[in-house]
Amino acid sequence: MVVRYLVTGGAGFIGSAVIRRLREIAAADVVNVDKLTYAGNLESLSAIASDSRYTFVHADICDPARMRDVFHTFRPDIVMHLAAESHVDRSIDGPAAFIETNIVGTYTLLEAARWYWQGLKESDPVKAQGFRLHHVSTDEVYGDLNGSGCLFTETTLYSPSSPYAASKASSDHLVRAWHRTYGLPTLITNCSNNYGPYHFPEKLIPLMIRNARAGKPLPVYGNGQQVRDWLYVEDHARALIKVATEGEVGETYNIGGHNEVTNLEVVERVCELLEELAPDKPEGVKQYRDLITFVADRPGHDLRYAIDASKIERELGWVPSETFETGLRKTVQWYLDNEDWVERVTSGAYREWVEKHYGEQAVDGAKHG
Ligand code: NAD
Ligand code: DAU
Repeated sequence: MVVRYLVTGGAGFIGSAVIRRLREIAAADVVNVDKLTYAGNLESLSAIASDSRYTFVHADICDPARMRDVFHTFRPDIVMHLAAESHVDRSIDGPAAFIETNIVGTYTLLEAARWYWQGLKESDPVKAQGFRLHHVSTDEVYGDLNGSGCLFTETTLYSPSSPYAASKASSDHLVRAWHRTYGLPTLITNCSNNYGPYHFPEKLIPLMIRNARAGKPLPVYGNGQQVRDWLYVEDHARALIKVATEGEVGETYNIGGHNEVTNLEVVERVCELLEELAPDKPEGVKQYRDLITFVADRPGHDLRYAIDASKIERELGWVPSETFETGLRKTVQWYLDNEDWVERVTSGAYREWVEKHYGEQAVDGAKHG
């Protein structure tokens, strides 16, 4: 049986990894609903752009009529909801877009899904029985472990620090409420920091690679002793598909890589890899690490995140396949091999690419593969 996946935010960093992986599964049709914000790049999916089992729909998840239309037209079996504003620093500078997309957008999607699912119960009870909506969330909803030895479990109380984290926490609450009150078959995952190919270069690792190659300062916030638990994006994509297809409805699963590293150590490791993989340094740079610069800290900066992923490992048999060493090496090499991609997504030239490869429709409407 062919399973129809509706993925929101599929042109983003993690969403594109999910879609690339789904298309490796023979019996999967994929619909990608994305607004194409600055963070959405269809070029990340160029390998499957003309695949007849893939469809791109240019739409905003906050648009109720468009969302109903998407459900009505594509009749998904599984929804994987990744569309979001995702950058903490941007949420501090301008929270409005985070409230709109992460909270109102999730609400709008839930209502469209509920309308579709209620209809299915009448028209196709077997399909209704199998329907599920998987909401992709973050470990930032749990707040700050503040240097303690504890790990985030699925029952850790929510205590978000940033506008981004608070908006994601709100969206998680909405999803749980729609399950409890309306019985909508939902699942939630909360994951730690991802890294890997196609990561927009505003986030720590790609920003450091890009700046180092340009001979620019490597800005480390505060003292750089904040700890994040890094997971290679393709491991996350595998975990998400496992939860969406095999997870128990109503449940939450934490996902993490068991890779707790301080920010300063991350930047130092990036520099070491660049010394080895790109020894031809920009003019005036003796060692990449000389570019490390301590700058003002992020307001409300969480000191430590770390995930207890034992539930997904035990119940669904998922384990990460990359260590931080192997994943970071692949990532640095990918960025060195794809400096053009980085320049295009940061210069806005990728929009020209979209128009060339998808035509006007991709920008204003839907492209049906
Ligand atoms: P991203 O910023 O790279 O991509 C987000 C995508 O959503 C983009 O393609 C963007 O165009 C799209 N989008 C934004 N607003 C939209 C709207 N209103 N309607 C339709 N599409 C819209 O994000 P990411 O890093 O790939 O994260 C994906 C999801 O995973 C997010 O929900 C995020 O909270 C969650 N998450 C991310 C991480 C991480 O480390 N990056 C970790 C855990 C969870
Ligand atoms: O934990 C999961 C979260 O990880 C996701 O939900 C978010 O969508 C994702 O963006 C990421 O959030 P972070 O804030 O942890 O990621 P970021 O790459 O922005 O920063 C990682 C750490 O590095 C953080 O402690 C801040 C620090 N940092 C970041 C940048 C961009 C710096 O020291 N300097 C920088 O220039």
